[in-house]
Amino acid sequence: MNNEIEQVALRAARAAGRIHLKRLSRINISRKSNSIDLVTEADRESEAAIIEVIHRAFPTHAILAEESGASAHQSDHRWIIDPLDGTTNFAHGYPQFCVSIAYERRGRVQFGVVFDALKKECFIAQRGQGARLNGKPIRVSTTPNLCAALLGSGFAYDRRERRRFYLCFWEEIMMRAQGIRRSGSAALDLAYLAAGRIDGFWEFGLRPWDVAAGAILVDEARGCVSNMDGSELDLAGANILATNGRLHEQLIEAIAQARPEADRRHAEMLRETKASA
Ligand code: IPD
Ligand code: CA
Ligand code: CA
Repeated sequence: MNNEIEQVALRAARAAGRIHLKRLSRINISRKSNSIDLVTEADRESEAAIIEVIHRAFPTHAILAEESGASAHQSDHRWIIDPLDGTTNFAHGYPQFCVSIAYERRGRVQFGVVFDALKKECFIAQRGQGARLNGKPIRVSTTPNLCAALLGSGFAYDRRERRRFYLCFWEEIMMRAQGIRRSGSAALDLAYLAAGRIDGFWEFGLRPWDVAAGAILVDEARGCVSNMDGSELDLAGANILATNGRLHEQLIEAIAQARPEADRRHAEMLRETKASA
């Protein structure tokens, strides 16, 4: 079964990757929840291709996919799909995007693949079997301190409405870390963390499809994944903190330190917006 899951997931990821490459030069963009939340034909077409591959192999499995939502029926087996993570990058021809597919059994993710077709990088993890990049085992970094760490982060699509809240954490962490990157693809951020290319990652307001595959990659590469306060990651409300393990407590502490000020600035912004309305 595990082998079959891996084969089907890889087949689906490759099908999506082919569509990304084909569509890259002919992009047709529309808007979703607001003017900065985009969707392209590549998102929709690659999602349809992934679901077709999975359904052909496992017709009874449930699906949770970004563009088409959750399948109506329940099953112990569920696939969590982001057909194109990094849509804004893709729409601008900025080369940082991927497909992310996770397979979950009885509520626990068992397998994840993050595939970057442009760079031909395929990150996979099987529960209990480690993580691999193009077939070679990968491990998180050994960076021991935040001051020597390169971190990743991002902003959800409510970033304009919650800008002061989000920026407060950047301000705090910028003062402690060596550098911060905002790549525009949370799934690749987590895959890069698993491969030791960055040392930690945090982001508020992600969705299950952004993180399901990346989180098992980090786990299996011997890193640490949690909610922002260190509790077990809640995929549904993904406020994710992921590190090489050594930095986990340091980042939890930095985030906790920034939180009251972030809440205060957000409340202040809401008051100002109301007053000027
Ligand atoms: C987005 C990317 C981005 C993150 C956003 C996500 P999408 O996903 O992962 O890095 O900052 O919060 O929504 O829309 O490109 O699939
Ligand atoms: Ca995404
Ligand atoms: Ca997406």
